[in-house]
Amino acid sequence: MDEAAKNKALRMIPYGLFVVCAQHGDSVAAGAMNWISQTSFKPPLVVLAVKADSRPREVIKEAGAFAVSVLEKGHKEIAQAFFKPAELRGGRLNGYPIEPAPVTGQPILKDAIAWWECRVVRIVEEGDHHLFLGEVVEAGVRREGQPLELRETGFFYGG
Ligand SMILES: Cc1cc2nc3c(=O)[nH]c(=O)nc-3n(C[C@H](O)[C@H](O)[C@H](O)COP(=O)(O)O)c2cc1C
Repeated sequence: MDEAAKNKALRMIPYGLFVVCAQHGDSVAAGAMNWISQTSFKPPLVVLAVKADSRPREVIKEAGAFAVSVLEKGHKEIAQAFFKPAELRGGRLNGYPIEPAPVTGQPILKDAIAWWECRVVRIVEEGDHHLFLGEVVEAGVRREGQPLELRETGFFYGG
């Protein structure tokens, strides 16, 4: 395979950049993630690819649920705070205030323009990221705004 072409072509997939959080008892994990896509209208399903050797993979699996916070255009700083491991202090996750999603209790960022929470319905353990198929059980829109896109941040994850 032409490695350079594969990297360049795969990096042409347009992505958003979201904060994914999960909590199970006292264990909390979070990460800024771009490998997220809707896969079904009825029921509403999304797929999320989570690094196999990461805390988010462990905690999402234990919790059987996760929440996705949609960042706003310009929220690059918030995304960057979630490249680091999750640290919960004084009701804040990596310095940003959170609240529990209404159905599953998974953490959502108060700064998010919108969010949704999922129950995990299937896990595919293949490759260096595992696929979590989640059924969206509740969602909210806090205010109008444009979502943060990966391209505008100058970061990339793919290839
Ligand atoms: C631009 C960018 C996009 C990322 N996208 C994903 C992703 O889709 N899935 C994922 O598991 N990690 C992704 N990461 C890594 C996470 O942000 C984070 O580093 C990881 O979840 C933290 O794991 P840890 O708590 O085990 O350190 C991405 C990192 C960067 C820099």
